[in-house]
Amino acid sequence: MKLKVLHILALTAFFAVPSIQAQRTIPEVEALLKKMTIEEKIGQLNLVTPGGGIATGSVVSSNVEEKIKAGQVGGLFGISGPEKIKTAQDFAVKKTRLGIPLLFGSDIIHGYKTTFPIPLGLASSWDMELMKRTAQIAALEATADGINWNFSPMVDISRDPRWGRISEGAGEDPYLGSQIAKAMVTGYQGDDLMAKNTMLATVKHFALYGAAEAGRDYNSVDMSRLKMFNEYLPPYKAAIDTGVGSVMSSFNDIDGIPASGNKWLLTDLLRDDWEFNGFVVSDYTSVNEMIAHGLGDLQAVSALSLKAGLDMDMVGEGFLTTLKKSLEEGKVTEEEITTACRRILEAKFNLGLFDDPYKYIDKKRPAKDILKDENRALAREAAKKSFVLLKNGPKNLPLQKNATIALIGDLANSKDNMLGTWAPTGDPQLSVSILQGFKNVAPNAIISHAKGANITDDPALAKKINVFGERVTIDKRSAEVMLAEAVALAKEADVVVAVVGEATEFTGESSSRADISIPQSQKKLIRALAATGKPLVLVLMSGRPLVLEEELALPASILQVWFPGVEAGNAIADVVFGDYNPSGKLTATWPRNVGQIPIYHSIKNTGRPQPTAEFEKFKSNYLDAPNTPLLPFGYGLSYTEFEYSNLKVTTAQINQNEPLTVTVSVKNTGDFDGEEVVQLYLKDVVRSITQPVKQLKGFKKVMLKKGETKQVTLTLTPEDLKFYNSNLEFVAEPGDFEIYVGTNSEATLTAKFSLN
Ligand code: NOJ
Repeated sequence: MKLKVLHILALTAFFAVPSIQAQRTIPEVEALLKKMTIEEKIGQLNLVTPGGGIATGSVVSSNVEEKIKAGQVGGLFGISGPEKIKTAQDFAVKKTRLGIPLLFGSDIIHGYKTTFPIPLGLASSWDMELMKRTAQIAALEATADGINWNFSPMVDISRDPRWGRISEGAGEDPYLGSQIAKAMVTGYQGDDLMAKNTMLATVKHFALYGAAEAGRDYNSVDMSRLKMFNEYLPPYKAAIDTGVGSVMSSFNDIDGIPASGNKWLLTDLLRDDWEFNGFVVSDYTSVNEMIAHGLGDLQAVSALSLKAGLDMDMVGEGFLTTLKKSLEEGKVTEEEITTACRRILEAKFNLGLFDDPYKYIDKKRPAKDILKDENRALAREAAKKSFVLLKNGPKNLPLQKNATIALIGDLANSKDNMLGTWAPTGDPQLSVSILQGFKNVAPNAIISHAKGANITDDPALAKKINVFGERVTIDKRSAEVMLAEAVALAKEADVVVAVVGEATEFTGESSSRADISIPQSQKKLIRALAATGKPLVLVLMSGRPLVLEEELALPASILQVWFPGVEAGNAIADVVFGDYNPSGKLTATWPRNVGQIPIYHSIKNTGRPQPTAEFEKFKSNYLDAPNTPLLPFGYGLSYTEFEYSNLKVTTAQINQNEPLTVTVSVKNTGDFDGEEVVQLYLKDVVRSITQPVKQLKGFKKVMLKKGETKQVTLTLTPEDLKFYNSNLEFVAEPGDFEIYVGTNSEATLTAKFSLN
């Protein structure tokens, strides 16, 4: 580790590019700190939002302008555009004693104005280069609008699809999650933070936020250290190792102490072990929320947070209003305040804001960089690569471009529901509806459209969903009338395409569901359409795995499209009409029913594993459901088929710290060219601690022309064999290993090797 740091330091000195991880002290920052009063230092720790629709939470900071001028603000989020940002920056630079520039933050979770698929969808592409490119474009557009700090990537592992924010992350797996964390940090920050088209990234929500009990947002988390280190912390660590500039603490508690005030988490682990040198920002009022957690009043929790290693307080202003008093009362030290302030000033320095506070302010850039044709083209590419073909019934897909199609569903002609959750910077009205996309891609098709059903018939639910704008409308017509209209169109058509599932705000922050099936109104519609006997295609929208047993049993084709973003309709049409062969794979297991949750591929065996699929008394199984998921992790079909053979390891015996090469032949045996995600899972046969039945440890996405065979090579690194043991040492234990390679986590081709 030390060596690595020295190496980076040497490189930094040579190229004079500041590296977040390498920074020790920056002379300019130290000189500035010497001039600052305690009030000015505390002011830097304050992050405010003027509100106005971009941020979420329950309060917004008041009198923002006065506070900036009074030197009480270190950063601002929730405003955009060169003019507004220049005005705010002027207050800081021209009206305060020291003229320290502000950071401008924003939640750019899956694209800025060019909205890409929701992160769970993007992750399903298993295409790291693509994900990096989406982050680059997000940074290009956001910086063109004056923003320099992104509250992304969100890398929380989640194994509970009830949790609405599963949509915002990469799913259940720490290995895949770590690769994605790297790709996104690299995309946002590039290799030069001084550039005008890169921005500071924030890894969030540190930590374990995705393990909220019962899938209810903001709920408590309780987890063993072993589970943390082996299964939940790796993606955060990957982001830190990649050089992410800031970390956002999470709302939940960890070992009884809320993350924002947890010294073990924010200092012992993050700084001492992981050598993170950026700054830590709280989540929205998460410091204040420690009062409700029962940790004391605002002064107490603010002092606790600062001492724990939190540097910046988002919105709650506990730091601003209580730290001076705590200093006077000896509850915090000046050194602690200075340390936090130093980290924020260093971030500003690293971004080049001290050289030029207006470097992101260029009135010409928005028109030049935002929503360019290339950006939208990438959104279309990303969307089609994110779709997962769950079933291809009697090969209903792809459709003929001159077919007579009944395109049914409220979601089929909606712009409001295409972007998905956490796209506050995007404009739903710029998105391509599915009906429009069908017309664009298949102008010779004869397309009729009917709503068929409301997304939900429940007005109380609709009201909760419609908080950020109308996503669900309840039709004045009766359910029967709407259904009859759709069935009549279906009977006239060659094929029925029903767009069904969730509306946008069914997932996202504070959008947990206890029932994760398709709403009843649409289930009835699907049954009625299936009963017509016409070939049926379900285009399924959701921000989470759904309980889909009934629909999956139909002789239909089902294409999971998540929330595809601004190019939704075009991308869906590309896949439905066969211009692109679907290649996405699930990154979170789909349960048969809610009772199976949490369910994920890397479960442990137990001492009493179920020997066959049949129930057996005194074995680990359910009386009323199988153990197996509805759809496993890594699952996804193609219009073609792939055959795996000839799995080989280059040597059956390796030494510690040696890599292992694995090869497998993959043949495209079907009628279409297509891409396949070749997946490698590892099992350590004997270990000093209980272990997952298998764990993803490698993957490669390959393109195969029809009839083509490729030999695919995957490499297991020495790190891939390691795990945290009972002493939390990261080790590989000698002994036998098994590998499984194939098309999803139920891969059956196996090989063995042993480690000396
Ligand atoms: C609360 C969310 O948890 C976090 O992800 C987001 O960055 C902040 N609000 C700011 O909008």
